[in-house]
Amino acid sequence: MLIMCTPLMLWAQTADYRIIPLPKSVETDTTKAFTLTSGMGIAYDAADAEASRNALFLQQWIEELTGIRLQLTPGNKKAAIRLQIAASQPKGKRVRKNKSPLLLEGNGEAAEEAYAITVDATGIVLHARKPVGLFRAAQTLRKSLPIGEAKAGITLPFTRIQDVPRFSYRGAHLDTSRHFFTVDFLKQYLDVLALHGCNQFHWHLTDNQGWRFEVKALPDLALKGSVRKQSHIGRAGLYDGQPYGGYYTQDECRELVRYAAERYINIIPEIDMPAHIESALSVYPNLGCTGGPYNVVQHLGGSSEVLCAGNPETMTFLKTVFGELCDVFPSKFIHIGGDECPKSRWKSCPKCQARIKELGLVDDGKHSVENQLQSWMNHELEAFLNERGRDIIGWDEVLEGGLTEGGIVMSWRGTDGGIEAAQQGHRVIMTPTDYCYLDYYQLRDHDRQPVSIGYYLPVSKSYSFEPLVPDKLSDEEQQYILGVQANLWTEYVAWPQHVFYMLLPRLDAISEVQWCRPDQKDFEDFKTRLVHLRQLYDRIGINYCRDME
Ligand code: ACM
Ligand code: ZN
Repeated sequence: MLIMCTPLMLWAQTADYRIIPLPKSVETDTTKAFTLTSGMGIAYDAADAEASRNALFLQQWIEELTGIRLQLTPGNKKAAIRLQIAASQPKGKRVRKNKSPLLLEGNGEAAEEAYAITVDATGIVLHARKPVGLFRAAQTLRKSLPIGEAKAGITLPFTRIQDVPRFSYRGAHLDTSRHFFTVDFLKQYLDVLALHGCNQFHWHLTDNQGWRFEVKALPDLALKGSVRKQSHIGRAGLYDGQPYGGYYTQDECRELVRYAAERYINIIPEIDMPAHIESALSVYPNLGCTGGPYNVVQHLGGSSEVLCAGNPETMTFLKTVFGELCDVFPSKFIHIGGDECPKSRWKSCPKCQARIKELGLVDDGKHSVENQLQSWMNHELEAFLNERGRDIIGWDEVLEGGLTEGGIVMSWRGTDGGIEAAQQGHRVIMTPTDYCYLDYYQLRDHDRQPVSIGYYLPVSKSYSFEPLVPDKLSDEEQQYILGVQANLWTEYVAWPQHVFYMLLPRLDAISEVQWCRPDQKDFEDFKTRLVHLRQLYDRIGINYCRDME
């Protein structure tokens, strides 16, 4: 069959703006296009360090995906690509400071991330209120590009894109206790989060199976508490007989904080307490109710060992750890864990029972005294962290003993905890297992996947999540839902390739939950857009699950 091709059709490849997550508005005129070729320029305000960095990112991404090498040409009003902060637009256009008719308003803090892209005969303009918006715009342009060497350049149909995220909190989590991942890998993980428009990385740093945060005042904590004698493998109760360890120095954490900030991601560190902490008890057995001996846990399940709430040294320990955590991580939010705290030790510990008496705690039928004891610890820690200008986040068990004043609830055992907290006027992050636990199997047929912790969470289910639960929360209560987070626990995930296999494409789906309005979402349409994103993953060497249910 003979197909007549114009030279453009033969050589130039064409951009497609229908990306993931889908922008709020894309108006494209496919009859007209701008052609981008090597040697053209990218203009930006060189006095603005962030805009300059974003221009560099864009230059690198375009070359990586298309082979087109652009020049950095700050201040050149005729450059093919122009990065513009709204305030710096020409006065003649009657654009007031930080106002642009192109930029959508958005909800609260999300408005700062608004951006617009216009493509016309003069080239490609990225508009934003803040440099973060330029970064989001550059990511959108990156994801729109055709992939593969484009020697004759690429054509970009004329368009006007306007976008702003739905939620201000768009998170992803990684457990680096059950398995340790290098800082280089974590940088790659952050790059993938940024590609999806995420702005929060919840870093689970400590658990029974390994303490991974250096505390300078307590050097043995990471040196010894990070190493378990061996690890269980698979599901058959077998152990590998190999010591396993690794921890992050404070310098490495700071380096990661810097790297994340350049990609507009905040790192929320989590030190899980008062349970999930046997790794620390193995180093300081005096902090446990029984006095030990304890071990860095080798199996990949839970532990009944907890910090002794009646021992005054426990709060001293926690303040030392969280104090250093605050020195390293500038995050406004600090995660104090609080999940799955068995109360058996506290019930039989004379020191804990004495503390309950001293505090005058009584079972009110809703909150047991042991649950209230946990709340007391949370209060103490919250006061300590508030003094340092931080707010606490806790897993939804923190509701069980009565929520602290300003605590933020991370609702993981379904959405009920989040609903209850929002009804009480507390801020909430939704991360229910049924939609957001990416350690679950993603295909029904287990034999086609690596061994996982179990259960079943297909991409389609993640995609269907609606975090505002409008049938249970009033409009006002919905305002307390800050956003949504994907969680990736690593009991059964030991290698980088496996992390990405579990993450993708479910994070693609969750990114639309985080970014898009419900009326924009359509799973069939999402799947068609995913085809291109998978090509991008192939090009930049990111693994993902090839099958989808
Ligand atoms: C959790 O998954 N234990 C918060
Ligand atoms: Zn105790």
